[in-house]
Amino acid sequence: MNTQLRHIVQNMPKAELHIHIEGSLEPELIFALAERNGVKLAYPSVDALRAAYAFKDLQSFLDIYYAGASVLLKEQDFYDMTAAYLARAKADHVRHAEIFFDPQTHTSRGVPMADVVNGIHRACADSGISASLILCFLRHLSEEDALATLDAALPFRGKFIGVGLDSSEVGHPPEKFARVFEKARGLGLHLVAHAGEEGPPAYIQSALDVLKVERIDHGVRILEDQALTKRVAEQQIALTVCPLSNIKLRVFDTMHDHNLLKLLDAGLAATVNSDDPAYFGGYMNDNFVAAFEALPLGLQHAYQLARNSFAASFLDAPAKQQFLDEVDAYFTAFNVV
Ligand code: ADE
Ligand code: ZN
Repeated sequence: MNTQLRHIVQNMPKAELHIHIEGSLEPELIFALAERNGVKLAYPSVDALRAAYAFKDLQSFLDIYYAGASVLLKEQDFYDMTAAYLARAKADHVRHAEIFFDPQTHTSRGVPMADVVNGIHRACADSGISASLILCFLRHLSEEDALATLDAALPFRGKFIGVGLDSSEVGHPPEKFARVFEKARGLGLHLVAHAGEEGPPAYIQSALDVLKVERIDHGVRILEDQALTKRVAEQQIALTVCPLSNIKLRVFDTMHDHNLLKLLDAGLAATVNSDDPAYFGGYMNDNFVAAFEALPLGLQHAYQLARNSFAASFLDAPAKQQFLDEVDAYFTAFNVV
């Protein structure tokens, strides 16, 4: 990647659509919050914790990710975590973020739903960038638990725009959550789900057909099913792809093996995102640079990815158009539009 392309990609306006806020918790903040809250950690130091970030698959990551989140107890902890993420996103020219949070990880430890939602939401409101929240259900837990979680979140209905589905994928297919997604749909919430990260393309299909999701999180295994690829490309259902995550969790061996370019070439509305940036080696621009360094991606792809990120967002039409115009104006200078 030449230095001009790097500069263009780093500075272009972009939206982030796949970020777990608990996955933005840096080891330094984990230790600071542990001390503030009197929580005992299993690791003696920041360096020892960071050294444990060698994952062999999704589950080996999730075990450490949930342990890290155990330091979050007070509303201010959720605020501080979110404010730190938004500052980093802003530095990477992220203009809009749709942020996942996992309430069950906290309510199961006795943290009130109010403190989780209000802390994260207040940081978004104070940040000066456009940001909205998506409540994710943990798919390794039961649908009853997800339904109870949705009910507990309803007093805060104005503070989140949608629901998602995350955690251990294989063995927990989307159809396990048909009723809770139907209920969320009835409430006018947007719907997304992780599918086709470690799980098969059939999970992408049932996320679309049973849950009726509007975007697929990850979805990189879609290319194993030609008919599904054609359909998702035709319908322009976006995939929120997370390149560094896919390497750290061994979905692909190296970034050279990543299928981001193949997804774009298949006409799919792929976007680039950070997933759990504190655990996977970087934020938005780190993901863009890593993918552009390893793959034969050029200026036209940068333009496409910037456009895709806003087009796939849940912004209202005028706001979306304003950001798309901003992308066009930025790229006009490089004779791309
Ligand atoms: N929770 C946080 N990151 C995740 C990922 N990459 N897949 C599934 N659940 C997650
Ligand atoms: Zn994710």
